[in-house]
Amino acid sequence: MDADLVVVGSGFFGLTIAERVARELGRKVVVIDRRDHVGGNAYSEDDPETGIEVHRYGAHLFHTSNETVWEYVNRFTTFTGYQHRVYTNHAGVVYPLPINLGTINQFFSAAYSPDEARAVIAEQAGEFDTASAANLEEKAISLIGRPLYEAFIRDYTAKQWQTDPTQLPAEIITRLPVRYTYDNRYFNDTHEGLPTQGYTRWLENMADHPNIEVRLGVDFFDADQPVSKASTVGQVPVVYTGAVDRYFDYAEGELSWRTLDFEREVLPTGDFQGTSVMNYPDSQYPYTRIHEFRHFHPERTSYPDDKTVIMREFSRFAERTDEPYYPVNTDADRERLLAYRTLTEGEQDVFFGGRLGTYQYLDMHMAIGSALSMFRNQVGPLLGA
Ligand code: FDA
Repeated sequence: MDADLVVVGSGFFGLTIAERVARELGRKVVVIDRRDHVGGNAYSEDDPETGIEVHRYGAHLFHTSNETVWEYVNRFTTFTGYQHRVYTNHAGVVYPLPINLGTINQFFSAAYSPDEARAVIAEQAGEFDTASAANLEEKAISLIGRPLYEAFIRDYTAKQWQTDPTQLPAEIITRLPVRYTYDNRYFNDTHEGLPTQGYTRWLENMADHPNIEVRLGVDFFDADQPVSKASTVGQVPVVYTGAVDRYFDYAEGELSWRTLDFEREVLPTGDFQGTSVMNYPDSQYPYTRIHEFRHFHPERTSYPDDKTVIMREFSRFAERTDEPYYPVNTDADRERLLAYRTLTEGEQDVFFGGRLGTYQYLDMHMAIGSALSMFRNQVGPLLGA
């Protein structure tokens, strides 16, 4: 095969490695992906009926405080000034998130100062001791008190995990941020925005180099394909960003994931909910949130003013054939992961990266940052940097 490196997976991790090797080292890279498009989970597409950009695998908001990553991503796209804000519809009333002074005062019909609000929440949180909390419910109450927990966390968590929070381990949450100001910006990173011309243009720009060949619809484990595990490992260096347990044919057992189902709908209105993401924490709604994509790009004048695209999000445990989205990370998963890490060390010139290859939730800037490190410390030196 005419390649110095094979990259499995065209998500941000794989494309960052491919771009660096192609541009910086002038070496040839073949990128394969089993999907029919580049970009991994950050992929977006224009809805055919409305032209509104839809994030097919769930809403993706770019944010980072890492200057190296920020400088790098700006080579491929400019960013809008979008700032993410989330609201939640509880018992028919809409509140701002993350829980902040606005949420607290609206919820308790009060006008607490920051100190007064702190005192109220501390008193309510005194019901349980954080250190000895026996389950997720007790831990959450020990952090924010029962009233806020029952309104905004309990049923939402139960929907996310399909499990009553009293049956979930306390460790799932380490903290529940409460802000004692009216600041409801979702992220507090130095840089935030959305790619001006969309995610797919950004991702395609990364792959746009004469030394990069992208082959779509190719599964690494399909030995009938010219580029597969059988034909590459041991022959050419491989960066593998697929699932680590799949690579080893689940020899140490399956790692567990949560998946999401998305229900997309075009509605005959110019604005359905007035904002991009509305959470539905109450149990009467089977979904956890509704995305309305036009609000990610208020600057776009081409969007119709009589139609909108919404996507309801449902959460559940993943089967092997589902898209893996969030690692469940049980004790058994952690043990299996350690066993897989040992196996990866035995694979000569195969580098495991990205969210699936390391069984880790990674934000986009983290996936890119970690790929830049792998290029600098491992893949680059191997290829003669
Ligand atoms: P990614 O999953 O994108 O790419 C892996 C690629 O490998 C896929 O294209 C897959 O098809 C391919 N592949 C797997 N197995 C293969 C095989 N056997 N053969 C060939 N190809 C194979 N981040 C953020 O910063 N802001 C946000 O708002 C969000 N929002 C968000 C929402 C949801 C619902 C999720 C699940 C995740 C986010 N993220 C996020 C995280 C973001 O999606 C993540 O950082 C990137 O997808 C990581 O890129 P990777 O390249 O690691 O994986």
